[in-house]
Amino acid sequence: MSAIFNFTFVPWFRSVAPYIHMHRGKTFVVGLAGEAVAAGKLHHIAQDIALIQSMGVKVVLVHGFRPQVNEQLKAKGHAARYSHGMRITDEVALDCAQEAAGQLRYEIEAAFSQGLPNTPMAGSTVRVISGNFITARPVGIVDGVDFQHSGLVRKVDVGGISRSLDFGAMVLLSPFGFSPTGEAFNLTMEEVATSVAIALQADKLIFLTEIPGVRAQPLAPEGEDNPIDTELPLADAEQLLASLPPAQNPSDTAFYLQHCVKACKAGVERSHIIPFAVDGSLLLEVYVHDGIGTMVVDEKLEELREATADDVGGILQLIEPFEKDGTLVKRDRTEIERDIANYTIIEHDGVIFACAALYPYPEARTGEMAALTVSPQSQGQGDGEKVLRRVEQRARAMGLDSIFVLTTRTMHWFLKRGFVQVDPDWLPEARKRKYNWDRRSMVFVKKLA
Ligand SMILES: CC(C)(COP(=O)(O)OP(=O)(O)OC[C@H]1O[C@@H](n2cnc3c(N)ncnc32)[C@H](O)[C@@H]1OP(=O)(O)O)[C@@H](O)C(=O)NCCC(=O)NCCS
Repeated sequence: MSAIFNFTFVPWFRSVAPYIHMHRGKTFVVGLAGEAVAAGKLHHIAQDIALIQSMGVKVVLVHGFRPQVNEQLKAKGHAARYSHGMRITDEVALDCAQEAAGQLRYEIEAAFSQGLPNTPMAGSTVRVISGNFITARPVGIVDGVDFQHSGLVRKVDVGGISRSLDFGAMVLLSPFGFSPTGEAFNLTMEEVATSVAIALQADKLIFLTEIPGVRAQPLAPEGEDNPIDTELPLADAEQLLASLPPAQNPSDTAFYLQHCVKACKAGVERSHIIPFAVDGSLLLEVYVHDGIGTMVVDEKLEELREATADDVGGILQLIEPFEKDGTLVKRDRTEIERDIANYTIIEHDGVIFACAALYPYPEARTGEMAALTVSPQSQGQGDGEKVLRRVEQRARAMGLDSIFVLTTRTMHWFLKRGFVQVDPDWLPEARKRKYNWDRRSMVFVKKLA
């Protein structure tokens, strides 16, 4: 093994360790678009899910089958019919859906049974359990349109699924449900995955989709100046959803987003939309700090928000001890009052326990994050990171390409979060003039994706 490999592999593996510890014992519901299987991605996705499962995550996999059903319909010379963005499942379509689901289940079970030496699946033992875990009801007749065998989820057998997961198996669900009269109903993958995530109160709902995520400007064309929004607070996601036209196709921004919002509102803390086209996207989203797609996150337990004039006292109280011990540069009340709109805070029950300010230098397309502080009693719980992410969002919204910090003691915290050290000469001219050469702060920069 080459020495270079040791130097890259060991730090890399250690950097992933906190995420492995964090996710152990958690429940993830993964919604896999049928398009991913049609695009030949199943084997790599199965390998990644098997890896996640072997690291202690409980996985429910719900597969879609839209293209497979359409292919079967085409072979039978029968047209696919939709209304209100939903399939109308007549007798022929129901037959096609059952055939497609059967075929896909075989393929998925086979993919999880691989174990050839020298492949990522060597030594893996993923037991797949499928079953009649979903009770369905008919969609019925809507605006005069009879949806026939198209259904909606009525109930999820939480006990049955949980027992299978506790037994160490992966639960595989097809978008089918049965009524108490024994009738089969064709459901959508997205609805089944969302309902199961809510019923299980899963830790994550992850859609592996044909879209890369939600863009910062969702209706504008993709491009470097319109990146994927890696984190959308639930309130912002709801607002965005309300402004979008109703989803008709899976490629519409609102299509997966509406399910993520629904899940988050019903207690699933994090919902993700990630692209299956990127090899390893699931691993990148779950085990890398910035992820790859869009995560909708419910932050209602505490309020992460922009500061107002009423917060000045709380901010002063929070940062004072760190100014006294020299970790932070002294800021007086008038300065904070003047710059209050630059601050982001976390407030809980009227107490501010985290803050940071963003000072933009638009001429250099960068901004300084200053006064990042988390109160000593709540450090180490991810609040510093939450504030950092919000500051990054604010910087992106201002059209900045990077943020930078000046620090004398906290360099490792920033290095771990994607910052790199640069020479103080790098600073924008206006900031360089204010740089205190006696303090000898180090400058760290993070490029915004
Ligand atoms: C730096 C700070 C904002 C981090 O906030 P936090 O909410 O504790 O951070 P998170 O919970 O997101 O991250 C905690 C991790 O950071 C590490 N960490 C905390 N302070 C650190 C420091 N000074 N240097 C390096 N790592 C640090 C913790 O050990 C923990 O590591 P782990 O995840 O491996 O266990 C907080 O410690 C703080 O307010 N420090 C004092 C003020 C300060 O230094 N501000 C920065 C000025 S430039």
